[in-house]
Amino acid sequence: MPIPEEFIRDLKMRCDIAEVISSYVNLKKAGHNLMGLCPFHNEKSPSFSVSPENGFFHCFGCGAGGDVITFIKRIENLDYVEAVKLLAQRAGMTVPDDDRSKGMSQLRSRIYEANREAARFYHKQLYTPEGREALEYLRKRQLTEKTIIHFGLGYSPKSRFELVNYLKSKGFSGTELIQANLANESKRGNPFDRFSDRVMFPIIDLRGNVIGFGGRIMSDIKPKYLNTSDTPVFNKSRNLFALQFAKNKADGQLILVEGYMDVIALHQAGFENAVATLGTALTQEQALTIKRYCDEVVICYDADEAGQKATARAISILRPTGLNIKILTVPSGKDPDEYIKSYGDQGAARFRMLLEKSGNDVEFRLQKLRSRYNTEITEQRVEFLTEAAKMIATLDNSIERDVYISKLSEELNVEKSAVKQQVSRYFKYNSREASKKEQREIQYRLSARDDRINTEKPNNLRAANAEEALIALLMKNADVAQNIFRILPPEKFITSFDRKVYETIKSRAEKGFDFTVTDISGEFSDEEMSRITKILVSHPRENDPQTAADDYIKVLEEEAEKMTEDEIARSDPETLMEQLRKMKEKKK
Ligand code: UTP
Ligand code: MN
Repeated sequence: MPIPEEFIRDLKMRCDIAEVISSYVNLKKAGHNLMGLCPFHNEKSPSFSVSPENGFFHCFGCGAGGDVITFIKRIENLDYVEAVKLLAQRAGMTVPDDDRSKGMSQLRSRIYEANREAARFYHKQLYTPEGREALEYLRKRQLTEKTIIHFGLGYSPKSRFELVNYLKSKGFSGTELIQANLANESKRGNPFDRFSDRVMFPIIDLRGNVIGFGGRIMSDIKPKYLNTSDTPVFNKSRNLFALQFAKNKADGQLILVEGYMDVIALHQAGFENAVATLGTALTQEQALTIKRYCDEVVICYDADEAGQKATARAISILRPTGLNIKILTVPSGKDPDEYIKSYGDQGAARFRMLLEKSGNDVEFRLQKLRSRYNTEITEQRVEFLTEAAKMIATLDNSIERDVYISKLSEELNVEKSAVKQQVSRYFKYNSREASKKEQREIQYRLSARDDRINTEKPNNLRAANAEEALIALLMKNADVAQNIFRILPPEKFITSFDRKVYETIKSRAEKGFDFTVTDISGEFSDEEMSRITKILVSHPRENDPQTAADDYIKVLEEEAEKMTEDEIARSDPETLMEQLRKMKEKKK
């Protein structure tokens, strides 16, 4: 049995959507609603609106929308039941027991438990004779006892069965261990430890769950690090290492480094706002997560070629979020961990100096650009200026543009007005292109050629529009809805998505439940919820809902009668005659 309806309704009454969302998004009052920057896509002007009255949110930019549970699901990356649990915890309520024993939620919570047990197990191994070498290794890398405990570091023993046997004795099944990616499956289908003879770094999410591990080999064997593959609780492109600590120490700024060891060394040296990606390049999701916890990010990647490339890439991903970006380059080809250590007691102070000296991303990009030209030669100087002007023209902030225009003109000894003119030409060009692109996107959406939620809509535009208007009307006018439910069977709906929405609200109404958008979120995916919310916000309240409803139903009837040529070709003669007769009658 799923979570009882009554509980969900109580929960929603106690969770003010505006209050919940406010703890993730900065919201400002705008009429009846609240507006802010959408946390689900990059934007500079707010198009994310929350309606406390109706209990839903909707983004006019990316189309995301739904009720408070949908919001928590998306922002916390949880499934439905977990989102309900989180909200319940917040509201001081206990979710009644349910028996979804085979459900995804159950599996996820088993994986969390297995991971937690595994982390404890690995940590304890450090203090056994077998783990001695690993402990020595960590000490050799100058980690203190306190740091080892703080990060819960550990050791995975050589034998390929110790963890598996241990967790089995704790009641976990082989399948669960394989699903958690703590074990691999042998050819015969038996689980064996995934990590063996490695120093273990547990990866912990913002709620304190162990979601995965990185394991470092202590010799030169490759791969140097072995990480948990994606599992039902672990997604490399979504999480960041040490964010659970860093978010509380951010104070407006996070430091982004490449490796686990860099993070740990920095935290130990007092820079507890350092985070790292999990062995992959920075993703847009991670950039948006970073944006949630700070205004400024300092990219501190390795100084080598690969590190510089990764820096340029990270800038291009972080820029659109509107975050202030700084670049810290560690001198003499060291990574932050090596740098700090190389100065012993002075390490932290030295790094602090680098941090204070770190330039912003525009400087970084200008410098890189400049290194490609010999500005002593006039031709190359002009080329460099042109490219630099193009780059400066991509900055949104006019003051920022002006600062770099001045700087550039001084450096190269060129009239400021000349540089300015060049930049403003490119800037205008960019704005024109951007607005053209936006127009095209709007056109594209309007034409609904690519509708992933209601795939039948493009071919049944008129019907689908009427269906949507009707759905919005029913959800806003419970009295009219009661009449319509009686006379309009779901079969009358032409597109199956809209039919499902109608069926859902109709059957809820028949069971005596509410059927507002906040009451049906359990039955639809996040994307579907976004669509339903969009339907609601894009249809204003009707003055005469009963008449309007009749009109929409008429449209549905008309559309049902229209047979496509395809269907006529496929019909048997009798139906065909019947259809033609009806059509003729209509025309009279
Ligand atoms: P580095 O090789 O720079 O690691 O890789 P590091 O943190 O400095 O490690 P130490 O100091 O040699 O112990 C950066 C990150 O890339 C990922 C890991 O997340 C690592 O922290 N990585 C690296 C892998 O996932 N697999 C590898 O084989 C190597
Ligand atoms: Mn390193």
